[in-house]
Amino acid sequence: MKNLFLVGFMGCGKTTVGRAVATFRACGFLDLDEQIETREKMEISRIFEERGEPYFREVETRVLTTLDLTAPKVVALGGGTFTFPRNIEFVRNQGVSLFLDCPLELLRARCEAFQHRPLFLRDPVKLTDLFYARLPFYRCADYRVDVSDAPPEDVARKIVNLLEKI
Ligand code: S3P
Repeated sequence: MKNLFLVGFMGCGKTTVGRAVATFRACGFLDLDEQIETREKMEISRIFEERGEPYFREVETRVLTTLDLTAPKVVALGGGTFTFPRNIEFVRNQGVSLFLDCPLELLRARCEAFQHRPLFLRDPVKLTDLFYARLPFYRCADYRVDVSDAPPEDVARKIVNLLEKI
């Protein structure tokens, strides 16, 4: 079994779906954002506010590349992780990537409810720009699953079925 890295915009369900996939596959699950917060002893929104995005991106790469992947895992990446060539390369070398493809309007509605997210993600215009700027990277993932508003369990089942065929 290979490591599975879930890719996609904030609000597409990487963490919820990832946990469900890990349960179905009986393997470990890691959430990159959670790992960053644990290692930095600080919430992500505070890292952005106090240290800035470039610092966050450095930490993100450092934490990603030092995750414990000795046994196969499902890893939920952050929304920006798979847009940096250094992270894409690492993911490619360590397993398979899967893009959770969700329509922008649904993501927007979900993001509005996330008050703890970095400020730049709360601006609706910036959010749209960011979505379209990131899509080409997300589309470089090995696989894509349409998530729309399907329940996370159903999406997870779809992913497990897909992985069984490869
Ligand atoms: C980010 C998404 C967040 C987190 C950070 C930056 C982004 O992850 O890594 O706030 O740049 O889109 P989620 O997609 O898990 O919310």
